[in-house]
Amino acid sequence: MAGRKPNRQLLARPPHIGRRSRRENELWFAPPLPGWPGWRTRLGRSGFDPIDYRLELAHMWGVLLREFFTFRFRSRNPIVLIVLLWIGLGLSSHLLTLLPVLTTRSNVIFDRRVVIDGWLLFSFLLDGLYFVIGAVILANVAKNMNNLMEPLFKLLELDVNDSPAIEQCATLLVEGFKEHWPDSWPDMESARREVREMLAGDRICRIAIDRAGNVVGWIGGIPEYDGHVWELHPLVVKPDQQMQGIGRMLVRDFEQEVKRRGGFTLMLGTDDEDSMTSLANADLYRDTWDQIAEIENLKGHPYEFYRKVGFTIVGVVPNANGRGKPDILMAKRVG
Ligand SMILES: CC(C)(COP(=O)(O)OP(=O)(O)OC[C@H]1O[C@@H](n2cnc3c(N)ncnc32)[C@H](O)[C@@H]1OP(=O)(O)O)[C@@H](O)C(=O)NCCC(=O)NCCS
Repeated sequence: MAGRKPNRQLLARPPHIGRRSRRENELWFAPPLPGWPGWRTRLGRSGFDPIDYRLELAHMWGVLLREFFTFRFRSRNPIVLIVLLWIGLGLSSHLLTLLPVLTTRSNVIFDRRVVIDGWLLFSFLLDGLYFVIGAVILANVAKNMNNLMEPLFKLLELDVNDSPAIEQCATLLVEGFKEHWPDSWPDMESARREVREMLAGDRICRIAIDRAGNVVGWIGGIPEYDGHVWELHPLVVKPDQQMQGIGRMLVRDFEQEVKRRGGFTLMLGTDDEDSMTSLANADLYRDTWDQIAEIENLKGHPYEFYRKVGFTIVGVVPNANGRGKPDILMAKRVG
């Protein structure tokens, strides 16, 4: 029956679609609660959308209580955690209000000469309940504080024997480059070959992993000019984890590694095969440096990312990937 379905499905369905029980109708069409901030309870809404229906409000509380009592509440927002800390302390300290009563009556209670009166018992139960709720909130806060201390991502060297991680790096190459550079690593075979080549002893091959141990980014480096210059190749971040600072973290770490090995310069070539910049389809033999100085990013080309992490455009290779498809050369001083 529609009314017995789990709330999640119920809430995901717009109120005007499908058959509903009478109770559901009452809930959906009950006076709305405009402007109440709440959780995402329906598809396509953010956590900051107002709550429109009582059902959403009830669902929000239900979810919140379930997450608290199963210790699965997650937040990295320090303001949320501080507010919860105060609430938890406030609730759990309720029991202290009974202390004066207890100290005056303890002798009679523990001697069992007096039956505890009803009012005292009620206070005990109520404050006990507050204490439990407060303690649960505090435990959740402590768990989240602990998570806050742990970094979201870790950087480490890719181990030549770590086949699952190697496979994940290969998948990142195929997935990360297929939209704008489909010929770079068109299949898993070519991507696996690339990862294996980058694992050669004289190269740099480092990965970013999330807390579950999954590879979310990968960076490689090849020494050139007797190790004075290191070519950054390749760099890729898992598509659904981009724009979170992983790329910047990998480049910074790479730079430290190059410095440690005595290098002076990072170099890279970033191709424009998909008319992503104003340098594509242009005559790069005329006013070359003016064109480079006035480069425009038309479709989110990564040269802009590299600029943000300290690289400078030091040249361009016209038609490197076919007519009108240049390679943009960039470099960064190490140290
Ligand atoms: C390019 C790439 C590695 C960037 O990694 P990322 O983790 O998304 O980047 P970050 O979150 O560290 O971004 C750092 C800064 O660069 C900016 N940036 C990232 N990618 C960008 C892009 N494609 N265009 C413009 N700016 C970009 C971010 O907005 C951020 O700017 P801010 O410091 O002002 O906030 C990633 O987008 C990727 O893997 N792309 C597909 C493969 C690729 O292009 N590799 C490089 C080929 S040479």
